[in-house]
Amino acid sequence: MKTIYAVYGDPVGHSLSPVMHNAAYAKLGMDCEYHKFRVIQSNLGDAIMGAKAMGFGGLNLTIPLKETALDFIDPDPLCEAIGAVNTIEFRHDTVIGHNTDGIGAMNALTLEGCVIPNSHILILGAGGAARAVAFQLAKHKAYVTIANRTVERAITLARNVSRVGKACACGLEDITRQVAESDILINTTSVGMYPDINNTLVTADMMHKGQVVFDLVYSPLETMFLQEGNKANAITIDGIRMLTLQGAESFRIWTGITPPVDVMEQAVRDVLNKQ
Ligand code: ATR
Repeated sequence: MKTIYAVYGDPVGHSLSPVMHNAAYAKLGMDCEYHKFRVIQSNLGDAIMGAKAMGFGGLNLTIPLKETALDFIDPDPLCEAIGAVNTIEFRHDTVIGHNTDGIGAMNALTLEGCVIPNSHILILGAGGAARAVAFQLAKHKAYVTIANRTVERAITLARNVSRVGKACACGLEDITRQVAESDILINTTSVGMYPDINNTLVTADMMHKGQVVFDLVYSPLETMFLQEGNKANAITIDGIRMLTLQGAESFRIWTGITPPVDVMEQAVRDVLNKQ
């Protein structure tokens, strides 16, 4: 009998997770299927326990369920620190919550040859995505600076992240020097995301050659932030890498198998190129 996996969210129609996971199952000849279900917040507990009762292989969660889910699962330590769940594992009688967003981002960087320990990383934004990325990178001994429009949010996040590593905060008005001193820039904000495509928080004149410029936004695929990175001869990484690698980590947690990441990534790029 097929093993079923799913992503829950509201809305969830845009999710590319089914495409990438089903591509991996097909490549590996696994008798599995991945679906998306619209689940409203007030039904999340029932939806998780229902999946467990029906023998689902595992779940992903997306907006706006990642924080609510903490009421229904046992978080692993990283997930607990981040305060958000994107992957649920059914192990014997327990329901374990993981967060693979930060691991996805870190693996995207290491795949490009970045060495995380002792690197200076500027994270733009202080929302949910920034939280996952900041905890993961600080835990792996990077020097993390969080820059946010609302500086209080950056300060709060940096204070929390300081429990696991080195982190400080600043407002966006202070970023010119921070950008110049960073090895890696990561945009976790929605600036530059469709339909706001002609915007970026950092321009080429602020960046430098060899710097790594990484955007978590993947709509459009080449954001203005990445275009500016290319102009500055930086090494650019688009949001599909992070999307694929966080999914790959969920896959590995559920199955113990390292999935064919290139196949997953290509499946996602094929869908986006058709849109
Ligand atoms: P997510 O969970 O996807 O990270 P979020 O929690 O809504 O989303 O966070 C969005 C981030 O983008 C925030 O850091 C937000 O800054 P504020 O905390 O000041 O709201 C940032 N952001 C959104 N629009 C922005 C803009 N026009 N300029 C600068 N930052 C922006």
